[in-house]
Amino acid sequence: MCGIVGYIGKKNALPIIINGLKRLEYRGYDSAGVTILNNKNQLLTFKRAGKVADLEKNINKDIFSGDTGIGHTRWATHGEPSDINAHPHYSSDDSIILVHNGIIENYKFLKNNLIKENYKFATETDTEVLVNLIHFNYANTKNFEKAVQISLTAVEGTYGIACMCKYEPDKIIAARKGSPLLIGVGIEEILVASDPSAVLNYTKKVIYLEDGEMAVVTKSGYGLKTIEDIQVLREAEELDLLQGEIEKGGYDHFMLKEICEQSETIQNTYRGRINFDTGVAKLGGLENVLEKMLKARRFIITACGTAWHAGLVGEHMIEQYCRIPVEVEYASEFRYRRPIIYPDDIIIVISQSGETADTLAALREAKKHGATTIGIVNVIGSTIAREVEAGTYIHAGPEIGVASTKAFTSQLMSLVLITLMLAKEKNVKLQDSLLSLAEELKRLPGKIQKMVDKREEYKKVAEKFKDSKNFLYLGRGYNFPVALEGALKLKEISYIHAEGYPAAEMKHGPIALIDKNMPIVIIAPLDRTYDKIISNIEEVKARKGIVIALANDEDENIKNYADYILRVPKTLALFAPIINVIPLQFLSYYIAAIRGCDVDQPRNLAKSVTVE
Ligand code: M6R
Repeated sequence: MCGIVGYIGKKNALPIIINGLKRLEYRGYDSAGVTILNNKNQLLTFKRAGKVADLEKNINKDIFSGDTGIGHTRWATHGEPSDINAHPHYSSDDSIILVHNGIIENYKFLKNNLIKENYKFATETDTEVLVNLIHFNYANTKNFEKAVQISLTAVEGTYGIACMCKYEPDKIIAARKGSPLLIGVGIEEILVASDPSAVLNYTKKVIYLEDGEMAVVTKSGYGLKTIEDIQVLREAEELDLLQGEIEKGGYDHFMLKEICEQSETIQNTYRGRINFDTGVAKLGGLENVLEKMLKARRFIITACGTAWHAGLVGEHMIEQYCRIPVEVEYASEFRYRRPIIYPDDIIIVISQSGETADTLAALREAKKHGATTIGIVNVIGSTIAREVEAGTYIHAGPEIGVASTKAFTSQLMSLVLITLMLAKEKNVKLQDSLLSLAEELKRLPGKIQKMVDKREEYKKVAEKFKDSKNFLYLGRGYNFPVALEGALKLKEISYIHAEGYPAAEMKHGPIALIDKNMPIVIIAPLDRTYDKIISNIEEVKARKGIVIALANDEDENIKNYADYILRVPKTLALFAPIINVIPLQFLSYYIAAIRGCDVDQPRNLAKSVTVE
């Protein structure tokens, strides 16, 4: 959720840490801070509520100068966003400094014990408890490494931490449990970060810490061990990521860039995985579980937010084309309701970041029951990607905008590939042959590009609705999850209330909301549900609602019903959600941008929700 950067080397640490924090701001951005070891061996801390840019503007660069330091950008969990609650946190006597991602669940217990030892607390945060616990153990051991180790064994919950000690100022200690952390190994410099994007400018060599591991980093190198004190030997791996891939590339916002990239990103998802002469899909990462997938009692797809919407589309695809029963579960609910999971179930977890705490917990629950687990993940080397039995990367590239866009269409494309792979093996009689599906797949990037190129048309519709207070999104079948996704995108970035509904459900309640001020986005492609959708539109018109129809280019009839039209190319049902979501992404993007909202960093949200 929050972001961590640490630096130790020969250069001035502050600009490197600030630069890294900016790259991590998408993880959390309600406050930020740094601690720098200056030339007089003093640890100086500066932190404040607000964005990294505020920190950068206000910090005295002459004073905060030195070759070692740690920094943090925060998304509040315990305690409001404020200067005092910002990280780094320090022990009562300022000798130990800590930045922390995650949640210490037993912090109240630990805090009460420390209060009995006369510790005083300035904040409500769990992090201040941990830093004082390290201090307490340092007082007993006079060994920083040992103090961290002992403290972490007492902690319940999750953490990614980096910390420094006034009495051993030449080192940074980093540790991880449930919150991602890595070490970037450069030439005569080492970085610690919660995300590779923070180190990419300096090195491509990284070592991901595993849960329960810690690293002691000094100018002369690093050592890895478990918190149980067992030495760990692991080679650095090479990052296959370009800095350009995580920059805006001339667009006003990352979100716009990411929407516009989708003709390319979906190709990256299917490249090398489909034979266009036969329509047969092959996913290398799933080969070891293919037999189990074919014999499975049922599939359970579990995920959160946008990834959950992708799962709902996947349910339609897999049930319809492969005749395998599929259930879709919110990961955040799944583990808490003692789910019935059989060893011959297949659990598919979908996650852009691969770090979402709820999704990870659902995955671990499924593993406990002996089910086969499969991941559909974007971030390579992420925790979920590493913990699943088998999986497929969506290869959408780094997604920086908090509102997920290109990851959604690539998740859908991965589900298409899984569907095609299983449909072939199951020999199901398909409505569209494998070959015709593969041929349409080849046309898909061109169709997406056509929509991207005419995005000004979508913008014109957006301009009309910048002041709306509420929206309804309606769709049927495959397009119901697309309606949910359209509504989520709008809420997230423009703060306009929006709800998605199956179109036929409207008359069972939401119809009461309709009046002359209510815009209703209705997904109305020329498919077998078309006549029914037209009836739904008529119900809306009869109540004076404003109809924004998402309709195919060739549909002339829709002009008789709709007030505004978002035109999309026609495609086969299997690909319709990928096509249809794109104008909805543009609509929400432009509405938010016109309203002057902070599109890439909407209030209260974080890109990757690594707390429950
Ligand atoms: O990284 P994940 O795909 O696991 O994230 C799941 C959700 O937190 C995420 O999709 C969230 O809903 C986005 N902000 C949607 O735009």
